[in-house]
Amino acid sequence: MPQMDIGIIGMAVMGSNLALNMADHGFKVAAYNRTAILTKEVIEKNPNKNMTGFYTLADFINSLQHPRKIMLMIKAGKPVDMVIDELLPYLDRGDIIIDGGNSYFEDTIRRHAFLQEKDINYFGVGISGGEKGARFGPSIMPGGNKNAYSQIQPILEAISAHVGSEPCCTYIGENGAGHYVKMVHNGIEYADMQLIAEAYLILHYIGGFDNKKLSQIFHEWNEGELHSYLIGITADIFAEDDPQGGQVIDKIIDSAGQKGTGRWTSIQSLKQGVDISMITAACNTRVVSNLIDDRQRAANEINIPTCAKNLPDNFIEEVRKSLYVAKIIAYAQGFSLYRSACKNYNWQLNFAKIAAIFRAGCIIQAEFLNKITLAYEKNENLSNLMFDEFFLDNINTNQSSLRRIICLAVNNGIPIPAFSNALQYIDAHGSPKIGANLIQAQRDYFGAHTFERIDKPGTFHHEWQEHYSK
Ligand code: 6PG
Repeated sequence: MPQMDIGIIGMAVMGSNLALNMADHGFKVAAYNRTAILTKEVIEKNPNKNMTGFYTLADFINSLQHPRKIMLMIKAGKPVDMVIDELLPYLDRGDIIIDGGNSYFEDTIRRHAFLQEKDINYFGVGISGGEKGARFGPSIMPGGNKNAYSQIQPILEAISAHVGSEPCCTYIGENGAGHYVKMVHNGIEYADMQLIAEAYLILHYIGGFDNKKLSQIFHEWNEGELHSYLIGITADIFAEDDPQGGQVIDKIIDSAGQKGTGRWTSIQSLKQGVDISMITAACNTRVVSNLIDDRQRAANEINIPTCAKNLPDNFIEEVRKSLYVAKIIAYAQGFSLYRSACKNYNWQLNFAKIAAIFRAGCIIQAEFLNKITLAYEKNENLSNLMFDEFFLDNINTNQSSLRRIICLAVNNGIPIPAFSNALQYIDAHGSPKIGANLIQAQRDYFGAHTFERIDKPGTFHHEWQEHYSK
């Protein structure tokens, strides 16, 4: 008699931790992994009356109550399609497959359509919070058939992180919406991490602060409006001693990896025509960080100014205010991509709820997200987060700090692509002219691409005189 409430395929760190989380919440979980030994190890290491290992796919599937709920916690890409193909012969109409990996949202849309024709419900679920989040409460972003969501909602909400009694899990939207929201979450995560890294460079190389002081500064910032998981772990990181002496941070090669979700976000923004310059800058900085030889050559052959030590008054507070303003812009960019996606993919994304489920469990969890939730609860049609009263006030109050800190960093050769793109975004929106009239004139001059006039409707081509360009 099938007993199990849900089955999880993939017993690596994320899959096994989610299984244990579900078992802890009283759900009967069937665990399966292609390499059986991994299932055996997980079960032996974590004995739990609610979790049972299965060693053939048939036994695993036959253990599940109907409609079957099968969660895939496996590597994104081809492996997901392969496992779906393996499962299909065993499944009945109405069964549910849940992909909890970092799959590309367009793959999820494809898989959802393919399985819908077989009356199999498919959910692409973004899960954020790393291994600790999976074990004790991630932020969960489910997308898929709304009419089948009630089948999996109790399990997902139970295992998610909570803010008070509110689960950090909400139905995001149809087909690939959940994976899309997770993708942009990761893009925002990249920008957040880049901003913190730039604040570190400014504090260390211009402020001259050592790791101990840096840890103290980030710890203090974490007590205030910048309170967040990423600021908190940064304070920890600068305090972490290396057994061989000094701190671990100074022993890590200055070259960052990226599995690709941030890059997907940046590519998507170009496809949708949305400016998320800070997320793109964060991706590009990771790319440049890998160019070790070129960087060494540039350091030797380009005269980058050394750091002057004429610190402005209240230097640390100036950096903190700059970081907060820049963070506002990073989230404004990310949520503007969400808004564009609603039109592109016919999703009804609830921005207030998305921000609300980011308040705990996920990597970008922060006090700041309460403000975003409030902003969209006040006005769900806000064209840009910058224009919410709270954020607009903060930008107007603190943009002068951002300008001063950017000038200080630029004049001292400190790379601050995310900070500077934040200011560029503010100025591009706020300045009377962005130079597009000249772009239009040039396009019309060489390509007769026409332009619109400020004094009358319609489109025009002008016969440009070659005054100087003969
Ligand atoms: C999360 C994380 C996670 C991501 C890691 C590594 O939300 O739990 O975003 O999904 O895989 O952060 O991502 P990168 O290698 O792209 O930095």
